[in-house]
Amino acid sequence: MNTLIITAMTVAAISASAAFAQSSADQTPTDQGAGSETLQRDESGDAAMQPEETAVTAAAEGEQFGQGGYTSTDGEDIYQTLCAGCHMPDGGGAIGAGAYPALAGNPNLEYSGYAVSLIVNGQKAMPAFGTFLDDEQIVALTTYLQTNLGNDYTPDATIESVADARPAEPVDPNTAEHE
Ligand code: HEC
Repeated sequence: MNTLIITAMTVAAISASAAFAQSSADQTPTDQGAGSETLQRDESGDAAMQPEETAVTAAAEGEQFGQGGYTSTDGEDIYQTLCAGCHMPDGGGAIGAGAYPALAGNPNLEYSGYAVSLIVNGQKAMPAFGTFLDDEQIVALTTYLQTNLGNDYTPDATIESVADARPAEPVDPNTAEHE
């Protein structure tokens, strides 16, 4: 039960920041608050999952989020759901509250290593997705980037190369946000 709620909250938090439509400061419960919420809800059984599910669904606008996390293995789906908010649906990038580099026609995508490392670990204002996406999803996403959005490279990401890019201690986006 605890694990499910924490997983759902992790998904909700990263969805909110990926969509960056909502202020995570307003939406994300403090660690302490989350703990006491869990205790109370455990007493009332299954109905306890409802608020988290509602938040997840709202943040993801009906995408395939559930208790097991975000499950799509379609590279384009993953890009449009998690990345397009900053990098734009056509990969054109944007300059607004920050500078979001264009991924369209981007020579840094010729070899997947750089993109994989950024997706797993994040970099500056680019959030880490390593705890949120599994190896297969990151391969599908990187393959999409290398072969779409005006890029025409030979896809070279593999389950092994993604696994290698993962740090021994995965970055937890929840903890990182509150530091
Ligand atoms: C919250 C906004 C945001 C989201 C969401 C986001 N990015 Fe980024 N991304 C950035 C920023 C900002 C940078 C520049 C990082 C830097 O300054 O080093 C970046 C850089 C990158 C780069 C390197 C580009 C280059 O030429 O150096 C890649 C590749 C990339 N992002 C892919 C993705 C993918 C794939 C996703 C979805 C899983 C994603 N990003 C989601 C903000 C975002």
